[in-house]
Amino acid sequence: MSRALVTGGAGFLGRNLALRLLKEGFEVVVLDNLSSPSPLGSPEGATFVEGSVVEPPDLPGPFDRIYHLASPASPPRYLQDPIGTLRTGAEGTRNMLDLAVSHEARFLLASTSEVYGDPAQHPQHEEYTGSVQVTSSRACYDEAKRYAEALTYAYNREDLVPEIRVVRIFNTYGPGMAPDDGRVVSNFINQALSGRSLTIYGDGSQTRSFCYVDDLIEGIWRLSNSDVTVPVNLGNPEELSMKELATTIAESVGDTGIDYLPLPESDPTRRRPDIGRARDRLGWEPTLGLAEGLPPTVEYFRSLIDA
Ligand SMILES: NC(=O)c1ccc[n+]([C@@H]2O[C@H](COP(=O)([O-])OP(=O)(O)OC[C@H]3O[C@@H](n4cnc5c(N)ncnc54)[C@H](O)[C@@H]3O)[C@@H](O)[C@H]2O)c1
Repeated sequence: MSRALVTGGAGFLGRNLALRLLKEGFEVVVLDNLSSPSPLGSPEGATFVEGSVVEPPDLPGPFDRIYHLASPASPPRYLQDPIGTLRTGAEGTRNMLDLAVSHEARFLLASTSEVYGDPAQHPQHEEYTGSVQVTSSRACYDEAKRYAEALTYAYNREDLVPEIRVVRIFNTYGPGMAPDDGRVVSNFINQALSGRSLTIYGDGSQTRSFCYVDDLIEGIWRLSNSDVTVPVNLGNPEELSMKELATTIAESVGDTGIDYLPLPESDPTRRRPDIGRARDRLGWEPTLGLAEGLPPTVEYFRSLIDA
């Protein structure tokens, strides 16, 4: 039986990925320091090891695959721990690459659309080199991920880890998210569910695209089984403004009004993946829009409040 390590596997995406790997017949080990876990935690059926990728404990190998997702992921989390975020991206990724060397494992890095910064090109193709303001507060996350990618390609170039995969994830939402992780979908839904007005930063014209978690996990699964070693964008190219998102959520949960606050520093104005590469190389594209993805997400957050 194949064995996989999922770092960050007690978090939103890592948990959903670990569940998929268990379903595909893998034995799964989760390494997570529980700094921002999903309320649902590491999945049943996986072996859970508490610890940081920065100073990893002994892990019950062998591993055929390492899915490296451990990282602070939402702005409130990484802005509160900029050095820890950089260390996770740099030292943590190096430790996991060294582990891949010793186990001769295939290594998948969870990178991000944030490597494109506040993009001057729209939509963002993988060949776009990005526009990150290195002195901005968000740079701890963006540059950590850029470094993690560069390090992964360096290990590959030096033939230390021949099997690498790099996924650049665009905003993803769905059951398993932490209600307080500060991402816009969870913020809006939880504000609406508790009768508070929704908070929009800026005038709400900035756009994002939102991918439902099941689509994203399918893309990661396909990428990890493919022979594609170049970075691949995974996300939903359907673009909408924060105001449109707020209206859509208000329609499905209840209208509680909108508050406008100043836009944070270096907040990208537009973000939409070019998914041509994922379509061509993986035969992947999202199948679930907000109409399908929001109801189970709202139900999930409602169940946390009722619990
Ligand atoms: N969800 C998204 O929209 C999105 C978008 C782009 C990239 N990503 C990337 O996907 C990955 C997973 O994100 P998520 O949305 O599931 O976030 P999350 O916060 O729910 O999960 C991250 C997990 O990593 C753990 N973790 C953090 N630092 C760690 C460390 N040093 N050692 C061990 N564990 C650590 C946390 O406890 C948490 O369980 C991250 O690498 C993130 O950068 C996510």
